[in-house]
Order: sequence, then structure tokens, then C-alpha cells
Amino acid sequence: MGFMDDFASSLLGWYAENRRILPWREDPTPYHVFLSEIMLQQTRVDTVIPYYHRFLERFPSFEALAEADEEEVLVLWQGLGYYSRARNLLAAAKMVASEMNGVLPADKSKLLRLPGVGEYVSHAVLSIAFNQPYAAVDGNLMRVYARHEAKAVEANDPKGKKECAAFLLRRMESPSQFNQALMDLGELVCLPHGEPKCASCPFARRCKAHLHGNPLDYPLAKKKNDVKKEALTVLLAFDSEGNIAIRKRQDQGLLASMYEFPNVVGKKKNGEFTDIFGNLQDIRFLGKAKHRFSHIEWDIDVYAANGVVDGATYVTLEELKRRYSLPTAFAKLLKFLT
Ligand code: ADE
Repeated sequence: MGFMDDFASSLLGWYAENRRILPWREDPTPYHVFLSEIMLQQTRVDTVIPYYHRFLERFPSFEALAEADEEEVLVLWQGLGYYSRARNLLAAAKMVASEMNGVLPADKSKLLRLPGVGEYVSHAVLSIAFNQPYAAVDGNLMRVYARHEAKAVEANDPKGKKECAAFLLRRMESPSQFNQALMDLGELVCLPHGEPKCASCPFARRCKAHLHGNPLDYPLAKKKNDVKKEALTVLLAFDSEGNIAIRKRQDQGLLASMYEFPNVVGKKKNGEFTDIFGNLQDIRFLGKAKHRFSHIEWDIDVYAANGVVDGATYVTLEELKRRYSLPTAFAKLLKFLT
């Protein structure tokens, strides 16, 4: 056996013994794999699992999803973040149902036409669901590759990703198992933070970073992205029946078209509230909160008041939870009420 087959056989042997039982692996239909990869793109496995189950129970197929109301999809997505994924998923399901007879195509150029599908998702679906030889290069695969080769590269470097894909393709056998094995290896053994578990790694004998004793030097730390800080004043406003005021956000930009509590950029004083929001009484400061998005951090002052906010809809807390997609940045402020 040549060294290349040895890479695959070491990896696949490790996977046979150590693979994780994950819901989308039980019955890896194209719909199951597609849904899971969209969810896993920016969210950790442990977080995704309960969302995946709830989503499938309500929308078991592309056809069922294609009939869905966008608001209901967003409610199911509430808390996962990056909500444009949910909108694109719905748009993709409509295209699959109406233009592809409900069947996801096993063809890269056709997959790339679906909203929300780029290089990574197309390769993940083609390999995992259709066992086609494509490398699904995510952060895990880049880390394993960079350490194995002691390659000084950033995890999201486009040229580095191409080199990683080429390296893996030359060694690939059983593409579905091969890629999922690398994902598991990256999440269970070749750990990003803290000490990687090189003693239980199938590549320990040939991993250059391990042999040099410095796996943590790879991949290169990514340049810190600039996080813009923004002050926000948020109002939890109640009518006389105890219903809470919400509004729909504008259809562009951060958290587009999601619901929110009335708010205004900047720090405001009680005396300014009536001018900003409407006729209010009993304005009281509840506390401070922070919420971090990928490029913005909100520094939030939370107030409560009674009265009527101009342009707001008043709903019970129960309705809010069931029927409206309130992003976590706002949902977490409800803790101030208890
Ligand atoms: N991360 C992204 N896709 C994954 C998958 N299919 N299995 C495990 N981790 C993943």
C-alpha cells in the first residue's frame, strides 16, 4: 500500500471505531444532509441537534418545506442565528420542489444555483449524501490538514483551502465516510482550543506538527476581525393587559425582517423616551446586557415602561414565543422581567 492509501485507511479505520452517532447520519438522505449542513455551517453540532429534530418533525421533506410560511421557518430557527440561512433554505426548498421535481440534484453546478449554497455546502452534500469525491473543506479539515503538513496557513485562506482540497482529494476513498471522519477527527481529537489529543490520533506517526511538537501553531491564528461596538437602548413596554410591544425590523441589514423590542441606537435618558417611543409611564431602568454578532457588539441598556409605543404590536409573552421570531439578542432581555 502506498502512503496515500495509508492516509485513507488510517482515517477510515479510526472512524469505524470512533465515529459519533449524529441524527443526520442515521438516514443520510439528500434532504437530511442538506438541512444539517445548512445548520452546521455557522453553528456547533451540540447546538444544532435539537433544532434539527424539531425542524424535521415539522418539515420532513423538501416538498413539505416548500409549502411553509417564512415566519414559521424563522420561529423554528429562533436562537440558531444567521437567519438568512433560514430564508435561503426555504427559497432553496421552493426551487427543488418546483424546478427539480422535489429531488436534490447530484450535480455541483445545479446545487450552486440554490440560494445559500456555495462551495462548502455543495461539496458536503455531494460527498456525504451522494458519495462523490469532493473535499468539504471547513475549519476542521483545514486544521487537520495544516497540522498534518505543518503548513503555515490561516483556516479561512482561500488559496490554503484549495491546497487542502487537492491534498485530500489525492488521498480520498469512500468520500462520504472520509469527509465525515475528518470532521469528527477535527472535533474530537485534533482540537482547536486546548491540547489536541495526539495520543489517540490515527495520524500521530506522520503528522508533521505533532512530530515537531507544536500542533497548536497550526493553522495560523486568524487576524482579529474588528468588532464595532454600538450602544442600544431597548424598551420592554406593556399595555394595560400586560401584553408586550414588538416591532418588525426593516427588511435589510442586521436581523432583517425579524421581530424586536422597541429600541433606539445610543444611550437615552428617561426624559427622552416619550419623544422617541410614544406616550409612556413608569419608565424604569432594568439593567445592562451585551450581545455579540460576528462584526458588531451591542452594549444594551434595558428599560421597562407602561404605555403605547407608536407603531408597535402588542402580544402576550406566550404568543411571542410561539409565533414570532425574536432573535436571541432581544429574547435574552426577557430575563430582566423575572
Ligand atoms: N460539521 C459540519 N458538518 C458536519 C457533519 N456532517 N458531521 C459532523 N460535523 C460537521
